[in-house]
Amino acid sequence: MSHKPATTSAELHPLLANRWSPVCFRPEPLTKSQIAQLCEAARWAPSSYNDQPWSFLLAPRDDQTAFGKLLGCLAEANQVWAKEAGLLVLAVAQTTLKKTGNPNKFGLHDTGMATISMVLQAEALGLRAHAMGGYNAAQARALYAIPETHEPAAVIAIGHPGDPATLSPDLRKREEGARIRQPLSQMAFTGKFGQPFAFE
Ligand SMILES: Cc1cc2nc3c(=O)[nH]c(=O)nc-3n(C[C@H](O)[C@H](O)[C@H](O)COP(=O)(O)O)c2cc1C
Repeated sequence: MSHKPATTSAELHPLLANRWSPVCFRPEPLTKSQIAQLCEAARWAPSSYNDQPWSFLLAPRDDQTAFGKLLGCLAEANQVWAKEAGLLVLAVAQTTLKKTGNPNKFGLHDTGMATISMVLQAEALGLRAHAMGGYNAAQARALYAIPETHEPAAVIAIGHPGDPATLSPDLRKREEGARIRQPLSQMAFTGKFGQPFAFE
């Protein structure tokens, strides 16, 4: 299992520093109680008007039909590693407000909030999570009968950390590659857009 903590200029909570997106999972199912914890974490996320626009289609690896159905929506390049995950999750955002039916411009944003809660809960359980946009959203919409008021957001693979020695050379390189980020000066601004905040 690779450990790739973030290099930071300020101390981070270990859950945040240690979270990363591996391509190496040990092919073991999650327990029902773990899956419940992941979903509870998402359920208690904040949302605009407390509208809770998220929903999650769960495909556990020990339900072969469900797992195969969501795995089949993924791009080939994602299937090669995501097939070892213990759980695949399709996050879906409601893009209309539940009370009024008006557009909810925070639907995708708040579904992302719920998703990172799920991801961090996975990390807290000693599991790992990897989000994917590389999937066929139209196929998923049709297969799962997702209504027009909702939008497939992302698929998340969650599982037990695996042994990189079991990977192909290509995947192993990815698994062990450095994690890269833009500097704080390119994202933390003050006064006007693009003007870096002075941390020192
Ligand atoms: C919405 C979204 C879509 C992503 N799509 C893919 C994907 O299709 N395939 C993949 O291997 N990684 C995907 N990733 C993972 C990112 O590449 C990864 O989070 C980023 O490189 C930062 O690496 P880290 O999560 O290990 O810190 C996606 C992440 C997000 C949030």
